[in-house]
Amino acid sequence: MKIVAFNGSPRAEKGNTHVMVEAFLAGAGEAGAKTENIFLVKKKIGHCLGCFSCWWKCPGSCVQSDDMEELIETYQSADVVVFATPLYVDNVSGIMKNFIDRLLPTGDPHFEKDPGGEVRHVPGRKKDPAFVMMANGGFPEQSHFQVLRLLIRRMARNFLTGIAGEIYRGGGSLLQDEEFTPFVDAYLAHVRTAGSEVAKTGKISAETTRMLEQPLIPAPNFADIFVTNANAYMDQMIEGKKKP
Ligand SMILES: Cc1cc2nc3c(=O)[nH]c(=O)nc-3n(C[C@H](O)[C@H](O)[C@H](O)COP(=O)(O)O)c2cc1C
Repeated sequence: MKIVAFNGSPRAEKGNTHVMVEAFLAGAGEAGAKTENIFLVKKKIGHCLGCFSCWWKCPGSCVQSDDMEELIETYQSADVVVFATPLYVDNVSGIMKNFIDRLLPTGDPHFEKDPGGEVRHVPGRKKDPAFVMMANGGFPEQSHFQVLRLLIRRMARNFLTGIAGEIYRGGGSLLQDEEFTPFVDAYLAHVRTAGSEVAKTGKISAETTRMLEQPLIPAPNFADIFVTNANAYMDQMIEGKKKP
């Protein structure tokens, strides 16, 4: 089992996304998977030009010469890929979207009706890996991930593959806040379990998914605590009393 994480945060190793990816891949590695962690921000990835040359002129290859050639090879070598992203305006980051668009050469241009009756492309030359969607957002609630929950379902259907799991973390900015270490450690233990389950069974279990969806701080007034703390932090930042 090979699991590759593609991280779409511009903050790379400093990001809250990375905290989640690290725990997930650690769990997967402990369970015997071969893992790879790729920071997309460090790669040269041009925008898709929409020219369809990868379907018509040079099937399977992009006309642009950048790091996507190597990234597609890595993508196709994986059994499971993790799309790990910060939540940006309720969606994946631009870095991640750019990467996803550039996966176009993996597809086949011909069409057919899928089992649900929608028209789709026929399977590409190589089977796509199963998908994990992983994201964190600044707002505390889990409801902010509605777009990503739908996006990963539509993506899996378009790419004719399965979903190995979903990991969403509201209040993600607290993942590196020492004040909340015990809660963060408890949460990351579940992320680790999720990685181990994907390595062993190909899927995150329903019970682990349930645990991952719990609020980071198990208090009925978590949103109020968050608002008070976050506003104090913002004021300190604005006054220049604190460094990011
Ligand atoms: C351009 C931009 C848009 C954002 N939009 C949202 C959003 O819609 N919802 C949300 O909960 N957080 C939003 N955030 C906050 C980030 O998701 C949050 O800071 C996250 O922890 C960043 O992850 P990272 O450290 O891995 O980059 C946004 C941040 C930026 C910079």
